[in-house]
Amino acid sequence: MEDETPTNPTENRPFTDVVGTRVARRTVLAGGLSAAAVTFFSNPAAATARGASPAKTRSGAGRTKGTAGPKGRTLVGFEPVAVADGTGPVPAISSDYSYQVILPWGEPIVAPYPEHVNGSKTAADQEKQIGIGHDGMWFYPLGKGNNHGILCINHEFGGNPHVLGKEDPTSLEDVRLSQAAHGVSVVELIRRRGIWKVVRGKYNRRIHVNTPVKFMGPAAGSPLLGDADRPSFGTVNNCASGPTPWGTYVTCEENFNGYFGATGDWVPTEAQERYGFSETGFGYGWERFDPRFDLSDPKYHGEENRFGWCVEIDPTDPWQKPVKRTAMGRFKHEGAAFVTGRGGRVVAYMGDDQRFDYIYRYVSAGNWRSMRAIGQSPLDKGHLYVAKFNDDGTGEWLELTIDNPVLAEKFADQAEVLTYARLAADALGATPMDRPEWTTVAPNGDVYCTLTNNSQRTEADAANPLAPNADGHIIRWRDTKRHTGPAFEWDIFLIAEDTHGTEDTFSDPDGLWADPDGRLFIETDGGQKDDLNNQLLVADIETGDLRRLLTGVTGDEITGIAVTPNRRTLFCNTQHPGNGDPTLTNFPVENQLPDGVTIPRDATFVVTRNDGGTVGS
Ligand code: FEO
Ligand code: CA
Ligand code: CA
Repeated sequence: MEDETPTNPTENRPFTDVVGTRVARRTVLAGGLSAAAVTFFSNPAAATARGASPAKTRSGAGRTKGTAGPKGRTLVGFEPVAVADGTGPVPAISSDYSYQVILPWGEPIVAPYPEHVNGSKTAADQEKQIGIGHDGMWFYPLGKGNNHGILCINHEFGGNPHVLGKEDPTSLEDVRLSQAAHGVSVVELIRRRGIWKVVRGKYNRRIHVNTPVKFMGPAAGSPLLGDADRPSFGTVNNCASGPTPWGTYVTCEENFNGYFGATGDWVPTEAQERYGFSETGFGYGWERFDPRFDLSDPKYHGEENRFGWCVEIDPTDPWQKPVKRTAMGRFKHEGAAFVTGRGGRVVAYMGDDQRFDYIYRYVSAGNWRSMRAIGQSPLDKGHLYVAKFNDDGTGEWLELTIDNPVLAEKFADQAEVLTYARLAADALGATPMDRPEWTTVAPNGDVYCTLTNNSQRTEADAANPLAPNADGHIIRWRDTKRHTGPAFEWDIFLIAEDTHGTEDTFSDPDGLWADPDGRLFIETDGGQKDDLNNQLLVADIETGDLRRLLTGVTGDEITGIAVTPNRRTLFCNTQHPGNGDPTLTNFPVENQLPDGVTIPRDATFVVTRNDGGTVGS
């Protein structure tokens, strides 16, 4: 989802000649290597492959064979969904693939397993059912794992008309229902006779806005987060996520500002403005019945600073309190892509999704295994950086540390730097980007990030080369010192606009995941061209070949990616089908789950190749 109003007031945007920049990026993509490409691609073989334009290598409709990847294998060889087939109220999938629909909003997962009732729900029931707004997720195998495991799944948002059946809450019970529909589900799944089902077992739990949580890291206990004696509850607007190398799930809080409002006198602080708080929020109306979300209630001073964090969940321990890891900074976290870097340090790449906001990197202080061995979380002690993209294809990671005199002048301590990470990044001169969404690390160490769009950009720069940028692009970079150095080199992988008018058309890239073979899975969220529904595409990173694997239903968004260890099963989601409007679609009742629930429901697709092969191939 997006928060439409940019809140970055800085002049960090370097002025660049728009026409000149556009020419430069065309040069990169056309294969005439620019300075950026030359320095980035010091390996001549890689340079040749990278210099090839995705637009040039796309073979479009009617192609018969896939692209040869490493060792001559065909990396992306499936029959794509044609544009003409990807419209309307039901999903479409490649003829080489099949899908099953599971985990619709309202499916009971916790005892006493209350059934979803069409149009009439209670908060108590919703706290035991799958939430709404399916987004980031990950699969944690149990036993042999390919047919059995725990799925953690984010429930980003659901508007009042969809969840409550009315524009505004009229009671605390309404607010509690809305709050219970948000958060995370942890659910055990098993595949029997080819069909995936929920296991009504001990791991299942719902985490929502009223679940007890705890804070760790430098901002834990800071007065900025309100009275330390006031108990901490909840996570909200859980967008994307990331699996850690030690088997936990990190869920990321994105547009948390929209759930707060003010019922009385309230004048926003500089920080509240920078994070987009307003008197009415996004119109959820929680503040009218739950004072915790009322910015004008002094009793809940600082409550808004308890949201906007990365939250760690142990999928195998249903009694664990989710932990907000403050060392990773507070902003509108899209997701966190974890990788082990030099010295065994854990590194997380993170987007802050708002127009003109930034890309961040977290690096643990030490080797993550050693830290865990002495009972320390690698996510509590480390360094947070923000990206500066130079127009010559180089970049720098600027550290958000109170040891920097520029920040020491403005902030009292590291807790404040982290709580107001956006303000600290502004002061350091980070590069405002076109809405950073997901990040992912490819097997060759390159990091990819979707920049979904920015209709309000008026000045281009090399990293954000379109002004305005209606349909988005995908940028990539490679850090020095295996994800831990202070510098990087970058180029642009794909510009959505370049696919328009072809069979590979897409816009508004959002979800992103690189598999270990070098395929890039791309999910979209926004108005696609040619009446297409939102979609899941697969690209060959080496050749740029791009194919459409699946399309969703009218009004939805395709979100979340998880795979089983053998990668023969992929999970992805339809989020807000029909935007909740049953006159547009009542998916999945008609074509998939004939259970009588006619309100359109977010749900998960289980995607498999018909020949049992690797997904994406
Ligand atoms: Fe939750 Fe930026 O999408
Ligand atoms: Ca989006
Ligand atoms: Ca997103």
